[in-house]
Amino acid sequence: MTAPHLDVHLSPDAAEQALRRDALVGLTAEPKWLPPKWFYDDRGSELFEEITALPEYYPTRTERALLAEHAGAVAAATGADTLVELGSGSSEKTRLLLDAMQEQGTLRRYVPQDVSRSALAAATAEVAAEYPGVQVQGVVGDFTADLEALPRGNRRMIAFLGGTLGNLVPAERTAFLAAVRAALVDGEHLLLGVGLVTDPQVLVPAYDDAAGVTAEFNRNVLHVLNRELGANFDVDAFEHVAVWDAEQEWIEMRLQATRAMRVHVAELDLDVSFAAGEQLRTEVSAKFRLEGVQAELAAVGLEVAGTWTDPDQRFALLLARAT
Ligand code: SAH
Ligand code: TRP
Repeated sequence: MTAPHLDVHLSPDAAEQALRRDALVGLTAEPKWLPPKWFYDDRGSELFEEITALPEYYPTRTERALLAEHAGAVAAATGADTLVELGSGSSEKTRLLLDAMQEQGTLRRYVPQDVSRSALAAATAEVAAEYPGVQVQGVVGDFTADLEALPRGNRRMIAFLGGTLGNLVPAERTAFLAAVRAALVDGEHLLLGVGLVTDPQVLVPAYDDAAGVTAEFNRNVLHVLNRELGANFDVDAFEHVAVWDAEQEWIEMRLQATRAMRVHVAELDLDVSFAAGEQLRTEVSAKFRLEGVQAELAAVGLEVAGTWTDPDQRFALLLARAT
């Protein structure tokens, strides 16, 4: 089997430069923080796949059930021939959409985009083998920067699943939604999967599982800095923390230094001090209210054409049309 060709909109050199910039800004800020896209090296993508199968991590299976039930309606409402997917990861749930588009006879092309080359290479090879008549065109890229470079088409649907919208902070989120709208032609669609505000006793364990997989995923970003930027983080000296911020309505993931330490980041020529107990913010995962997310979509010119939720109201799929 020959692996499909990947378009590279984010070269390894550009990624390295962006990582340097992000690490320099974030590690010298008060409080310290790092952007989440750096979790997803080969190991990070593997760990995320493990997260999706954890008993505590309800978002993946809830979204999968919603797609299983409503993919036909989505395909019919859009008539799309091209599925573009941002942050596609393993493309596992995406098969439900591809199947529905294929059944209605419109599916021609699948364009998954992800920062993780390894996840994308594996997913495109599998999808290409499973859907022989479909053109699979993977794109290595950053969905916060590279949307204009996505291929144009006849009738595209952009899917953004997994609650990944919630990993952008509000200002980034607004800019991202506006960029998605700008990338679409009138009449094309966005399919969005988002987590809803729900009981913190359900939410928090989803981001702090008993087996410690999420903790390992969170700490993985320090391995990335050690490897890519020649840093010397003692990774085991950081503890995973997940808290529900009831005001912002997001889960916040942090890494807490268990002792005072000084970390050297060779490639940045930077020394960073941590006090004992100091926390580094690594990720937010915002949860939404339906009216809120619908208003955010409408504000950028995306008209909601369908909203589906699970019986426990923990997750929503929204279909919006560019107008
Ligand atoms: N859509 C999949 C994966 C969600 S995890 C699912 O629903 O299960 C988030 C995915 O987005 C990962 O595959 C990660 O590599 C990718 N990602 C994170 N930040 C990104 C960015 N800025 N640009 C492109 N991909 C990104
Ligand atoms: N999009 C996923 C979410 O917000 C990403 C995610 C799941 C995640 N678990 C995580 C990110 C733990 C960082 C740490 O649910």
